[in-house]
Amino acid sequence: MSAVPAVINVDVPGPVINRHLYGHFAEHLGRCVYGGFYVGEDSDLPNEGGLRLDVVDALRALNIPNLRWPGGCFADEYHWMDGVGPKERRPIMVNTHWGNVEENNHFGTHEFMALCELLGAEPYISGNVGSGTVREMSDWVEYLTREGDSPMVRLRKENGREEPWRVRFWGLGNEAWGCGGHMSAAQYAAEARKFGTYCRDHGDNQLYRIAAGANSFDYAWTETLMKQLGELGCAYRPAPFMQALSVHYYTLTGTWQDKGQATDFGTDDHYRTMVQAARVDELLTGHSNVMDCYDPGRNVGLVLDEWGTWWNVEPGTNPGFLYQQNTLRDALVAGLHFDVFHRHADRLVMANIAQTVNVLQAMILTDPESGALVLTPTYHVFEMNKGHQDAASLRVDLPSGLPSREVGEDRLATVSLSASRKDGRILVSLSNLDADEAADVDLDLRGGSVTDVRARILTADRLQDHNTPEAPATVAPRPHDQVTATASGLRVHLPARSFVTVEGSLD
Ligand code: AHR
Repeated sequence: MSAVPAVINVDVPGPVINRHLYGHFAEHLGRCVYGGFYVGEDSDLPNEGGLRLDVVDALRALNIPNLRWPGGCFADEYHWMDGVGPKERRPIMVNTHWGNVEENNHFGTHEFMALCELLGAEPYISGNVGSGTVREMSDWVEYLTREGDSPMVRLRKENGREEPWRVRFWGLGNEAWGCGGHMSAAQYAAEARKFGTYCRDHGDNQLYRIAAGANSFDYAWTETLMKQLGELGCAYRPAPFMQALSVHYYTLTGTWQDKGQATDFGTDDHYRTMVQAARVDELLTGHSNVMDCYDPGRNVGLVLDEWGTWWNVEPGTNPGFLYQQNTLRDALVAGLHFDVFHRHADRLVMANIAQTVNVLQAMILTDPESGALVLTPTYHVFEMNKGHQDAASLRVDLPSGLPSREVGEDRLATVSLSASRKDGRILVSLSNLDADEAADVDLDLRGGSVTDVRARILTADRLQDHNTPEAPATVAPRPHDQVTATASGLRVHLPARSFVTVEGSLD
């Protein structure tokens, strides 16, 4: 087996990898909020104000930079006033998108802000454009962020919170092309202008307004939004109503009716999954190119605020709850996405995996009966990669390309890698997507040498392997000793189906 050469100029730092590329998402959907993050104060499970402390503790190890809430589709039918004040007086609503279940509004604004404080994460609130009013959203911003005296400040104080919170990230609706109102791009652009204008900066809380963006490859949607900048005479600087726009992209191998199975899949399905995941590069390049035409200075951020795998729900679970298992394959999808994100660090300012607990590609799965908690393989990728947050990206040049294989009509590069440096340390992440063949990568580190090398590996006997309460460490990181010094850097051995991180001090 010949090694793949990879040249990294460690003394030529590229754009900083915004820590918000490691963001998260918690929707009122299935058991993400209720049963996942929030069990209520009367629960037998250790909690603080109803927030599950084991979940919080596990997530703190990931340095979660931001948490998006309350949706998703749910955001566009959520009325925030129903979720503040004494719990016994909060009205019940029906969560029509997700299982048609009753929502008692016990987890509302104050509970969300308390969760963010426990996690050490910045809040990212998705406002209601679809069925809400401009005034309702404007009041929510005032309630959260204003100090002094005003109707909303008084209400907040009555509800027990004296000081304003800081909330920078504000979403102007969600999927306006679909569940968020079935609008055309032009219709939504007009709404976004209105809503964004009346969401005010109070005091020194400067909002970062994120317009609801395209459905995956719909570049025309992005173009319509970006044209607003020119029309409003604010080309080359952020528009007053939006500082960023979003896009959503999910990885699935089938159709929306039959998306593929989370654990019952074959090698062909695995490769098709990787092809789909790798297309996030094409997606980000496409949207960035459109944005560059209208904003060459890259003042407007691109936000991928929903990404991840979406499989059929686990047999016997509520189809509206989107509960799926998480295998080594999901971990490889995550590793691949992060390599792409790091390469787009100059335009991509935030990304949020869907979703953090018990929904879609989760970090944590909890048992509805026993409450037992399991860390998924995807959790471990987030933990192993956290050193890239706020680090300078390092370009990786591949003089001989990457090993690849045919997958239907596509060609899949079976090795993926990215690198960054921060505080005198380098971190390289490498994935071998091949189901059966190992690979070696020769890291040719130019402009510096590395000492004190530490490597970890995430792999398993089978791509389908996953963690359960009975076997919680089937897919868990272990030290990796197959990294050897070479004349110009390091040779890293990548067993089949593995994710590896290599860290060291730079001299
Ligand atoms: O993450 C699940 C759902 O997927 C979200 O509510 C919606 O925005 C998207 O379609």
